Amino acid sequence: MVIDDDRLLCDTVRHGLDGQGVQVLTAHSGAEGLRLCAQRTVDVVLLDQKLPDGDGIRFCQPLLEHNESIKIIFITAYPSFENAVQAIKVGAYDYLSKPFALGELNLAVRQALRTLDLEHVAQVQHFQRRRESDRAVLVGRLPEVRRLVALAAANAAPVLITGETGTGKTLVAKAIHFQGQGADKAFIAVNCAAIPENLMEAELFGYEKGAFTGAAATVKGLFEMADGGTLFLDEIGEMPPHLQSKLLGALDDQQIRRLGGRTLNPVHARIITATNADLAAAVRERRFREDLYYRLGVMHIPLPPLRERLEDLPELCRSFLSQITPDQPVRLAIEEIEALRAYPWPGNVRELRNILERSVLVRASTAIQPSCLLGTAICNQTPINRANAAISIPRTLEQVEREHILATLRHFNGNQTHAAKALGISRSTLVRKLKCLGLNGTAP
Ligand SMILES: Nc1ncnc2c1ncn2[C@@H]1O[C@H](COP(=O)(O)OP(=O)(O)OP(=O)(O)O)[C@@H](O)[C@H]1O
Ligand SMILES: [Mg+2]
Repeated sequence: MVIDDDRLLCDTVRHGLDGQGVQVLTAHSGAEGLRLCAQRTVDVVLLDQKLPDGDGIRFCQPLLEHNESIKIIFITAYPSFENAVQAIKVGAYDYLSKPFALGELNLAVRQALRTLDLEHVAQVQHFQRRRESDRAVLVGRLPEVRRLVALAAANAAPVLITGETGTGKTLVAKAIHFQGQGADKAFIAVNCAAIPENLMEAELFGYEKGAFTGAAATVKGLFEMADGGTLFLDEIGEMPPHLQSKLLGALDDQQIRRLGGRTLNPVHARIITATNADLAAAVRERRFREDLYYRLGVMHIPLPPLRERLEDLPELCRSFLSQITPDQPVRLAIEEIEALRAYPWPGNVRELRNILERSVLVRASTAIQPSCLLGTAICNQTPINRANAAISIPRTLEQVEREHILATLRHFNGNQTHAAKALGISRSTLVRKLKCLGLNGTAP
């Protein structure tokens, strides 16, 4: 938006910026500009210093009150140092003196829009970080793990997290990061097993332009990107030996040298590592440096497998089910939780989450009760357990239908409309079936 009583200038700006993906609004007084700002979303304002209804500076504050991210470019025919200082003091973004060339105007507007874009990206990142920190919450009792996470968050020592797959190692690493001092800085996760060995060094430590063929520009490594925050090295056991030494050096000196670089750059990233392999055995077999092992494990957080903390099953189920369908969380019956207890959970918490997700999804489309699906999911994986013992008892179709209808009604607290919908039949069909099965009037 251009706010200037000089109509010719307004038209010139409009034509000058036209066709550049910029839409130009014009106002000829401060009051008109404020009115327009209240009706439209304005990104950049070109504000004249001398307006019919007062000094342009007077309107800076009210414009910013409408929208604090507006970028105000002050334009004046009487440029002076004092003027410029005053404009910046009241929140102007830039300053142009009249007459200005179109190129100059273009540049100022582009820069203002770019700053807006960057602010927007920063806002999105901030929002995503908040979302992620919300999700980095441990469910279950885990008293020892919680104590160690709090302790780790309170200092910057390296942390080694061990545990089987799906026990929550990545989650614990995030919890430490978001509870710690660097929570508003980056959390950068690297899976050492997923990066080809020849690229890992450049990824981690960065490189200077010309360091190798194809290094067309200087690039920061993940270590530097995580400065002030956390570098999470997952599957650390897979790190090749020559990088193990370089990592140890970086940890000891708190500085790194980019590939092809001459200088050392200071980095203060907290290092969290994780593995589901037996790192101690790797040390014994000389596949992993012993000194690095002790350096990384200043704090060690072992995570128990799910089968060793079955008391957390009900709470984990409740938490996952309410995340999967927040509007109408499915509740599991005690027998269903009992069936889950009988399973050895080789995939730990991740597997539990997946099974629940799958059962809710299938249930939504074909009206299968979670109990059935949990039963089949588990039956497919374990030869004998209590869950499939119950299912394999021969029963008539009528018995199965009767139990299924009752269970569905029970699930919906007797609400026939909801139960019929979940069963994939009309309410009148349900009423008819209830009658045939001698169940009409039965409180489920
Ligand atoms: N205590 C817990 N509370 C809530 N969610 C958990 C818990 N433990 C694990 N999860 C969830 O289980 C899934 C797997 O966890 P995570 O990715 O942290 O496991 P992992 O140990 O890093 O596995 P991998 O060894 O395969 O990398 C995630 O969805 C995570 O949020
Ligand atoms: Mg993980």
